Parts: sequence; C-alpha cells; structure tokens
Amino acid sequence: MTGIRTIGVIGAGQMGAGIAHVSAMAGYNVLLNDISEDRIEHGLATVNGNMARQVASDKISEEDRKTTLSRIKPAPKVEDLAACDLVIEAATEDETIKRKIFAQLCPILNPEALLATNTSSISITRLAAQTDRPERFIGIHFMNPVPVMKLVEVVRGIATDETTFEATKEFVSRLGKSITVAEDFPAFIVNRILLPMINEAIYTLYEGVGSVEAIDTAMRLGANHPMGPLQLADFIGLDTCLSIMQVLYDGLADSKYRPCPLLVKYVEAGWLGRKAGRGFYDYR
Ligand code: CAA
Repeated sequence: MTGIRTIGVIGAGQMGAGIAHVSAMAGYNVLLNDISEDRIEHGLATVNGNMARQVASDKISEEDRKTTLSRIKPAPKVEDLAACDLVIEAATEDETIKRKIFAQLCPILNPEALLATNTSSISITRLAAQTDRPERFIGIHFMNPVPVMKLVEVVRGIATDETTFEATKEFVSRLGKSITVAEDFPAFIVNRILLPMINEAIYTLYEGVGSVEAIDTAMRLGANHPMGPLQLADFIGLDTCLSIMQVLYDGLADSKYRPCPLLVKYVEAGWLGRKAGRGFYDYR
C-alpha cells in the first residue's frame, strides 16, 4: 500500500513519543494513543521538550517546532485510529499486552491499513498471526533516542507481503533513517548483539570484577562507546533489558543468554533505571 499519510502510534512512552516526533517532522499526520490522557499528555510534553533541544542546537527552527507539534493529535480511544494508513504499536515489551492491543485495534482499522510493531525482540511471525492481516504486518524497530539514532531495523514475518515491505522501506526512508533488514529471529540484529553485552556487564558487576563506574569507564574510554553498558541499561530500562534477555534465552535455548540474577533482582525491586529514578545509578 502506498500513499501513507496518517500514522497511528500506540504507546506514548519514550519510544512512542520519539516515533511520533520523527513521523510528524517528516510531514505525516500523527495520532498518539495510550491508555490514559495523562500518558498522552506526558508523551506530547516529551516531544515538545526534545524539539526544544533541537531548536536550541539550531537543528530546526521555532517555526518547524510549532508546525511539527500541530501535526500530532491525541487519540485517547483506539477507535480514534480508524482512519490511519499505518499504525505502529510501541507499547510495553510484553506479548500479552501487545496481543490485547491488536485484538482491540484490528476490527476498527481499515482492512487495507498496515500494522507495525516496534517490538525489540518478540517474533513478528507470532504477533502477526494474532491479527487479521499477517500479510500487512511488519516489524519497524526504532532505536532510543529515536530523534537522534540513525538506524531502523525492518523485520518481515513469514507472511509479510512485498507491498508491505516496500511501503515500509519508503516510510522509513522518508523519516531520514537508514534501514537494516533483519530476519525474524529472537531480538533481531541490534539487540541480539547489544543485550548480551549489557548482560555480561551486569555479570561483571555481580562477580565483583569492577564497580559500576569502572565498568562504564572501561567501555566508554576503552571501546569508545558513547555510554557505558550499565548507563545504557538504565537508559533502555532494566525491565526491557530483562524481557529481551528472556526472549533470547527462551528462543535460542542457550545458557549463554541466561539473564544475570542481579538484573532480575533490580527489576524485582522496581529499580528499572532512569525512568524509575533508580537503576545502576541514582537519578533522584
Ligand atoms: N531528542 C532530541 N535530541 C536529543 C535527544 C532526544 N531525546 N537526546 C539527545 N539529543 C541530542 C542533544 O540535544 C545533542 O544535540 P547537539 O549535539 O546538537 O547539541 C545530541 O543529541 C547529543 O546529546 P548530549 O550532548 O545530551 O549527550 P551525548 O553526546 O552523551 O549523546 C546520546 C546522548 C545520543 C544518547 C549518546 O549518549 C548515545 O548515542 N548513547 C547510546 C545510545 C544507544 O546505544 N541507543 C541504542 C539503545 S538500544 C535500542 O534502542 C534498541 C532497543 O530496542 C533496546
């Protein structure tokens, strides 16, 4: 399907807000949905704040900021997404939640509309099979922070058709992002490589090989990573890191993907990283 004009984004968290931001910047009309009006407002405030940063560093003008923001409209009810040409689900990394969303969404969506998920690890084929349109279902995996990161992973399920794939590539290119195509295996490419590295950093802490600061400094200055792995884990969210490790561990059945017990403990404690005010670092 060509002629995508209106995008629905489900989930107004850091990823959903970022997707709304870059889509509106590229000229698309965006409808932003979440489970409460408060969350949508919070998502819009995130977009506004990130655009203000772009204005401050002369990446965009004040006029661009206003025009872009005016293209994003709150959509508190799923029914508000009925007229979308493409809906991107960017809810929590939990298969049950995603399935519930698709079950509500599919009956009201135009049969021709494309449906995408921003999942960072879950099988596209399996999610697609829960919908009424597996051939028009695809993975569009953005990186955090979405307005800054250049890459988008595109992942086809076994049933995704060529028209959907081509329309998706055109959409992502219009956002000014580079595309990498990954096959539908647990955690695709970026997280298949990145998360075991982060998990290993947590094991390094767990086994007392180094302190939080030592591990992060080692990787920042010794491997030129922009953030240390523990700082990055806090940034991604430790709950998301754990979900991805569990998908790798279950999906590939190899003990090398066993989530570090310290990661499990932090998640159980609610120390989920930056968004919770506490993770490997204290943000309070
Ligand atoms: N929106 C808009 N602009 C932003 C931004 C945001 N959310 N965050 C940062 N920026 C901009 C800043 O304004 C700044 O712009 P200027 O250079 O024009 O001033 C620029 O980005 C750099 O930011 P900072 O100076 O604040 O800080 P920094 O140099 O440390 O960069 C960073 C921040 C871009 C986040 C960098 O630390 C980085 O690249 N970190 C690694 C991020 C990463 O690995 N992401 C992938 C995570 S994995 C993933 O997303 C997949 C998954 O499914 C889990």
